[in-house]
Parts: sequence; structure tokens; C-alpha cells
Amino acid sequence: SRSINLAVIPGDGIGQEVVAQGLKVLNAVLPEDVKLETKEYDLGARRWHRTGETLPDAELEAVKEHDAILLGAIGDPSVPSGVLERGLLLKLRFAFDHFVNLRPSKLFPNTATPLAGRPEIDFVVVREGTEGPYTGNGGSLRTGTPAEVATEVSVNTAYGVERVVRDAFARAQARPRKKLTLVHKNNVLVFAGHLWKNTFDKVAAEYPDVTTDYLHVDAATIFFVTQPERFDVIVTDNLFGDIITDLAAAVTGGIGLAASGNINPTGAFPSMFEPVHGSAPDIAGQGKADPTATILSVALLLRHLGYEAQAARIEEAVSADLAERDGTARTTDAIGDALAGRVAG
Ligand code: IPM
Ligand code: MN
Repeated sequence: SRSINLAVIPGDGIGQEVVAQGLKVLNAVLPEDVKLETKEYDLGARRWHRTGETLPDAELEAVKEHDAILLGAIGDPSVPSGVLERGLLLKLRFAFDHFVNLRPSKLFPNTATPLAGRPEIDFVVVREGTEGPYTGNGGSLRTGTPAEVATEVSVNTAYGVERVVRDAFARAQARPRKKLTLVHKNNVLVFAGHLWKNTFDKVAAEYPDVTTDYLHVDAATIFFVTQPERFDVIVTDNLFGDIITDLAAAVTGGIGLAASGNINPTGAFPSMFEPVHGSAPDIAGQGKADPTATILSVALLLRHLGYEAQAARIEEAVSADLAERDGTARTTDAIGDALAGRVAG
């Protein structure tokens, strides 16, 4: 019989609440012969305050043994900025070599978006996940003085760029429209820009049936708002991908619906699924958070593990649920119950 051995990291703020709903829907959608085992890891702000630890090696090793990871949200105003981000979230992405940060955007029915009523919007951003300015290369000179100098170095390797570009081409080829857009800023960031564009053009030659396009990141932000239907698959670096996926979420239904997967396509390490949104400490513990982004992340998790039918059931349930939303506020729990009911039914 089949089984899923899942590591669960609820993390901070609304992370706890939304992950509980994600697990509820996961339990409801799985066929009876699939055995789900979950282990919860107490990581995040509370742990850091208690022990000073972000992600001890022993726990990193333990998490590594799971089939996949479900993560809620990391970050709290009581912890200095960057400590948990780098010590926990980015540490997981880097240690497990999550070089494909997959962030789909779909215009769901009946959502509060400036783009409501537009032709179908359905694109996916393949954000590089292990390089760029996220590597922590850089430094500060004469810190805190009027002569302070800060550098933040973007690392781009031929190996790292090629593997994510290849992944994006394969994804584009598997979709009906077969279109891939490279987003960068090669008019200013000429060194990294050259590596990305050169690699993109080289791999493109192996995919003659995929239509290609290039946009500078600033121009891409215009098209996200004025012409989002032009996008199918987008490939971009870690920081550009961070920024444009928040924009993409905002224009296609809000950050409450944006799901993501931090994927290691080789299977060498467990992939990690999380909502794009953060820990929202301002509404934490009030049952106000929309768990839909986490529930859609569970769909990505299932698809990654080969449960396509179950993933699709969750996505259809979300569509149907959104179509019936009438603006009445529902609690986190109520939304989770409604979606669990739909996928079970
Ligand atoms: C995201 C977040 C993270 C990122 C932060 C919390 C480090 O914004 O997942 O998009 O920048 O990748
Ligand atoms: Mn972000």
C-alpha cells in the first residue's frame, strides 16, 4: 500500500492556523489505501525565543527523511529581521536544493481583483530558488558610520541557471500554449543577464515547439497588470521571482490564494510546499486567515508526489468554493471545513 510521510512546519503567526486546515483537506482527499504519517516540527519564533535555535542540524537531518514538507509561515516582529528567514526558511530551501520555486497564478472565479472579468489568466512562475542575491554574499564596511558601504552580491552559476531554465522549458512544453518568457534586467545587470539570456537561447534550440519571449522585469510588471494573459510559463531569478510573484498574486485574486512549491525535481531531497503569504502577525490567532493558499499548496504537494487526481480535486473544490463566496466573512476553520467537505464528496 502507498504512504506519505510528511514533515509539518507550521511556523509563526497564522502559519499554525492555515496548516491545520491544509492537513484537514489532505486527510479528506486521500484515498483510503494511502497511509498518511505526519510529524510536526516546532520551529520558528517561539523556538528561537526559548532556545536561540533556528534549525539545528539534527532536525535538518530528520526533516530530510520525509517524502515532503508542508510549511505555514516564518517570521515574527519579535525576532530581528532576517534571523528566521535566513536561519530557517532559506536554510531549508538551500539545504534541500530547492532550485525550482514554482508559483502558479490563476484567475479564480469571483475573486476581488482588479483583473476580474478578464480573459483567462493562467500562468506559472518558475523562480530560481538557490542563487541570486539570496546566497548571502556581500558585506558591510564602516558599518553605522556616514561612510558605510554595503554590497549584496548576486550569485549566478552556469549550472544553477541551466538547470532551472531546463525545468522551465520542460514545463512550458507540457502546457497547451507552450510559451516561455525569460524575465531579467539584462540592460543593466549585464553579467548575470548575459548568462541567463545565453543559457535561455541555448536551451531554446532544443525546444523548437516552445515559443520564447524576453522581458525586462520592469516591463514585465506593466504586463502583469495590463496584459497578464500573455504569460504562460515565466522563468526568472530568485529576487525578481520573489517580487513578481507577489504582484501576480495581488492581481489574480490576492495573496490569500497564492500557493507555492519549493521543488527539488531530482528527488534527492524532500520538496517543500507553502503559501506565498507570510505569518501576518496582525491577524494571527483570530481565525481570520484564509487557508486557501495553504490548501492549494497541498494540491501542489500531491501533484509532486504523483497524486494528480487528488490535486485536481482540491483545485476544483477551491474554484467551486470561490464561485459561491458571497462576501460573508468565514473563519479559517469554516473555509477548511467547506473545502474538506467538497473534496471528500
Ligand atoms: C517568499 C518570502 C521569502 C522570500 C522571505 C520570507 C525570505 O518573501 O517566500 O516569497 O523572499 O523568498
Ligand atoms: Mn516573497
